[in-house]
Amino acid sequence: MKKSILLIVIMLAAVGTMQASNILVAYFSWGGNTKALAEEIQRQTGADIYRIEPAVPYPTDYNTLAYTIARNEKETNARPALKETNQDFSRYEYIFVGCPVWWFDAPMIMHTFLETYNFAGKTVIPFCTYYTAAYETLNDIVNATPNSNHLEGLGVSGASSYDSNAIGAWLRRIGLDQESTAIGSVEKTDKPVQSSIYNLNGQKVSDNGNTDGLAQGIYIMRGKKFYVK
Ligand SMILES: Cc1cc2nc3c(=O)[nH]c(=O)nc-3n(C[C@H](O)[C@H](O)[C@H](O)COP(=O)(O)O)c2cc1C
Repeated sequence: MKKSILLIVIMLAAVGTMQASNILVAYFSWGGNTKALAEEIQRQTGADIYRIEPAVPYPTDYNTLAYTIARNEKETNARPALKETNQDFSRYEYIFVGCPVWWFDAPMIMHTFLETYNFAGKTVIPFCTYYTAAYETLNDIVNATPNSNHLEGLGVSGASSYDSNAIGAWLRRIGLDQESTAIGSVEKTDKPVQSSIYNLNGQKVSDNGNTDGLAQGIYIMRGKKFYVK
């Protein structure tokens, strides 16, 4: 009896400390390559995931899509309608925005999406998949979110699965792998934000953001890495 009460208390405590992710992976994918990359990013970050879909589905035939619909959308600077326009993304701080390269750029539906949802003040991380090269696609997403902060993006050759080590290395570089965000999440409470600093082993080395006396090296504050000289 005592044991089961203890178990319930532990479970309730665990639920109490669980928190919703503040990271979103929003992606558009026609053939599935970008979907697979988005899902790998989700797997490695613990993010929520959202698929951007057109109100009118694109044709399944490649030639019709590429040489008629997509080219026409680009030439006319179209804003193809979204299937959904009433999502609430306000609680996300970090938003991965991904798509395939279509005619050297992001598909026009990405512009509809980024103009519909306001990511001002949030941090946008672009990613894309391609056949030959990313060309201007990552810049296109950055330019379409002028009031957001940005982290280094990722463009990769499209595939049905991806090298998880390479994706992991990128996520660590930008401080959004699960280890870094778990450390950052220590501060996400209702209390006033303290700028605690952690070393790369996850040990707290400062309560108040003061770097005096810290040895030279990389540290983490509010989920972001920085360097002490
Ligand atoms: C309409 C269309 C245009 C494309 N234009 C390009 C391009 O300009 N450069 C390129 O490298 N790949 C291009 N591709 C290939 C896709 O970017 C690539 O196959 C991508 O991984 C597909 O992602 P998805 O499966 O998520 O749709 C194009 C594909 C389509 C359907």
